[in-house]
Amino acid sequence: MTRLTRARNTSVATKITMAVSGLFFVFFVVFHAYGNIKMFLGPEAFDGYAHWLRDPFPHLIPPMWFLWAFRALLAGSLIIHVYAAVRLWLRARKARGPNAYVNHQTIATTYASRTVRWGGIIILVFIVFHLLHFTTLTFQIGGDYHAMGPYERMVATFSNWYMVLAYMIPIAALALHVRHGFWSALATLGANKVRRQHWINLVAIAAGLVVFLAFMLPPFGILFGFIS
Ligand code: HEM
Repeated sequence: MTRLTRARNTSVATKITMAVSGLFFVFFVVFHAYGNIKMFLGPEAFDGYAHWLRDPFPHLIPPMWFLWAFRALLAGSLIIHVYAAVRLWLRARKARGPNAYVNHQTIATTYASRTVRWGGIIILVFIVFHLLHFTTLTFQIGGDYHAMGPYERMVATFSNWYMVLAYMIPIAALALHVRHGFWSALATLGANKVRRQHWINLVAIAAGLVVFLAFMLPPFGILFGFIS
């Protein structure tokens, strides 16, 4: 095996690692957005779901075990995903050499990877903020969270337009990230043959749009008074 082939194989392995850990996130994101949509069904449905997450199989496992196992899986996938991203980025930078701007594939590739990299950083910052907001209840926006249930906390938060905006920006970054991820994963799997590219692009855009709409519907529903 030549050095070049070995390097290419390692890159493919890293990209597969990204795709698999990324896929787990997609699964989580769909599950989470589905849970949030329950806001439209009222406090009982939403609070019931929040309670179920903490004690999903009462006769099988003690409360919180499922949630902690899921949290550990999420944290593990996040570390793997970010590590693989940094590896790919360093490798691409090295391969490009000192002549970074001349010796490059296409402007489109540079643009996409730059967007995805900045998007990734925005999402990471958002996750920290989000956990301090809704999980540890460190940032309490719109009232005393300890005196409220999960449904009321959502309403208190997104009755403020600036909170809708503060969530919309990272969710838009996430939607673009998912779009790129879908495209990139299908390309790694070799599905992006020229005649299929158009469809793959459409599927990737649709996936990004679904993520954006599914997450943003409840905040907008609250802001515009459909949920109160
Ligand atoms: C508009 C968008 C979002 C809203 C309204 C929202 C809302 C919430 C709420 C209310 C909780 C607390 C649930 C509970 O205590 O039972 C929560 C937890 C969480 N959210 Fe979100 N979320 C949004 C987007 C996201 C995104 C995009 C991610 C990740 C990429 C994310 C990751 C998490 C995580 C990791 C938890 C903690 C789960 C746990 O371990 O307890 N959320 N979210």
